[in-house]
Amino acid sequence: MFLQSIKSLFTRNMGIILKSRDQIEGIRESCYLAAETLDMITPFVKEGENTARLNQLIDEFIRDNDAIPATVGYRGYKYASCISLNEVVCHGVPHKDVVIKDGDILNIDVTTILDGFFGDNSRMYMVGNVSPEAKNLVDVSKKCLDIGIRQCYPGNFVGNIGYEIANYAEAQGYSVVYEFCGHGVGIRFHEDPDVAHIAEKDSGDIMRPGMTFTIEPMINEGKSRTKIDRKDGWTARTIDGKLSAQWEHTLLITKEGVEVLTDIHNEYPKPLKLI
Ligand code: MF3
Ligand code: CO
Ligand code: CO
Repeated sequence: MFLQSIKSLFTRNMGIILKSRDQIEGIRESCYLAAETLDMITPFVKEGENTARLNQLIDEFIRDNDAIPATVGYRGYKYASCISLNEVVCHGVPHKDVVIKDGDILNIDVTTILDGFFGDNSRMYMVGNVSPEAKNLVDVSKKCLDIGIRQCYPGNFVGNIGYEIANYAEAQGYSVVYEFCGHGVGIRFHEDPDVAHIAEKDSGDIMRPGMTFTIEPMINEGKSRTKIDRKDGWTARTIDGKLSAQWEHTLLITKEGVEVLTDIHNEYPKPLKLI
């Protein structure tokens, strides 16, 4: 989401919402569907497919499951997903002329609204013969998400997520996008707090049980700055045209640590005990 502009919307500046047991159940269901959507689309992500077609399949799947794609109509965005290829950092607009090629890396980002609750996640997909450099970027960006998740437990500072992510990414020779960040999610699409992916140690809000938010690091091969496509007003590309990669999960802070709500393959222990 947008770091600055979004703060003016009435859905923000409400402070952090600690979710009730019932709200958590609703968010959990929506997160499950958001992750299932990314599973569903996996076999279709191949050479020759265009991103408008992938988006259409995503839109249908979400609606067939009695949910609504949160991005449709969001600040004028028209599609059920963002599909961001290669040098596109985020908010890639699906289009029939954007055709997947051998060697591409791409992010698909899906947010569902199920019974009024929001679940938000994204993954990278690698198509055919991906260069070792591109694969390394994809792997490091996934590790950045995992490093961020390890900082999620009650009493820790939200800033430590970005502090640890940036430490690692920069040590690997990459840069971290600071113009977009993670966010509270669940009752609204974008809630407080902002979850920066580069931050000072021990800065920002303190995590509490019942908080739900995303971590969604965007990691660049070259410079960290982005530019928005002048024609569509959405597609954010790296300023230097080099590759970018991103992974996103929605998380719940629990009494003892964190639960990765969009992890439907039990990659992370449930709940993950970190204290
Ligand atoms: N799902 C994105 C996020 O992770 C937001 C997309 S907003 C859109 O925050 F309007 F571009 F779809
Ligand atoms: Co998000
Ligand atoms: Co998202």
